[in-house]
Amino acid sequence: MLGDPRTTLAQGLHALMIAEVADKVGWEHLIALAQDLGQTQLVERFRKADKQEQEHVQRVSRWLSAYTSATARMV
Ligand SMILES: [Fe+2]
Repeated sequence: MLGDPRTTLAQGLHALMIAEVADKVGWEHLIALAQDLGQTQLVERFRKADKQEQEHVQRVSRWLSAYTSATARMV
């Protein structure tokens, strides 16, 4: 979808947001699984990845918010 020239910036940002949120939830599940299995070293590694994904979600959210605000002002 992102490589399709017909994709708008809004559509691309929404797709990116969905992907980043899915990444975040995936790490959360892996953390829970590693905790259940007593894999403390993996838990720490997964938490670092989860934190990074949280930053991605926040970054894309800011981009989406800025785009939405800018678009609203043009109407
Ligand atoms: Fe990410």
